Amino acid sequence: MMTLDDAVIARHTVKAFEPGQTVEQDKIETLLNVLQNSPSSVNSQPWHFVVASTPEGRAAMAKAATAAFSYNEPKILNASHVIALCMRSDLDEQHLEKVLEQEQKDGRFIAEGAREGQDKSRRAYVDMHRYELRDIPQWMEKQVYLALGGLLLGSAMLGIDATPMEGFDQRALDQSLGLREKGLTSVVLVSLGFRSEKDFNAALPKSRLPRNEIFTFI
Ligand SMILES: Cc1cc2nc3c(=O)[nH]c(=O)nc-3n(C[C@H](O)[C@H](O)[C@H](O)COP(=O)(O)O)c2cc1C
Repeated sequence: MMTLDDAVIARHTVKAFEPGQTVEQDKIETLLNVLQNSPSSVNSQPWHFVVASTPEGRAAMAKAATAAFSYNEPKILNASHVIALCMRSDLDEQHLEKVLEQEQKDGRFIAEGAREGQDKSRRAYVDMHRYELRDIPQWMEKQVYLALGGLLLGSAMLGIDATPMEGFDQRALDQSLGLREKGLTSVVLVSLGFRSEKDFNAALPKSRLPRNEIFTFI
């Protein structure tokens, strides 16, 4: 595996994939592990991930890359795997109960009152976001972007080429994957695979604002 420093420098957004190549399943398993174990505010885990690894699956994702987003279509069709990172449309009672039950099952509640305490503090945050900040969807979406960060860094560490994409028709993807009837909506896509010779981004230098612009040391 690459060192973290190497991976950070080596990774770039791949603009063209070589079709017909498949990322090894053990690496995919590692990335699923990264997604499953991604941190989230009050352990809310307000996400769902759809993983396409077949031509049919990729075609279902590509239905969202039309019109203004058609430039992303080949990055979906020629990838090995495409992951749709989705968020819940609401942080409802059922989901809060599910998370609490899982924490119980996983052995998180040892001290007396731990379960009630956890439930209460999580609900306090949920209520704050629902009633005061009124930003439940934005709050959930932030958690999904944390998972995106882990996924991109994890892919880089494993030497897997990746493309994050916000450039797709969310409504079309939700429809194609049947997300809304499940209380979900799509946020961002990530294609994984092998860069092709047409990946012009591989030859270009990275561009980032200088350190003196982005860091303050006190
Ligand atoms: C959330 C997000 C959405 C992006 N959407 C697209 C996209 O739809 N299509 C694309 O080709 N690149 C997309 N990019 C790639 C960015 O342009 C790229 O990350 C940025 O220019 C930095 O370059 P690098 O990733 O090669 O280091 C996206 C990146 C992020 C993080």
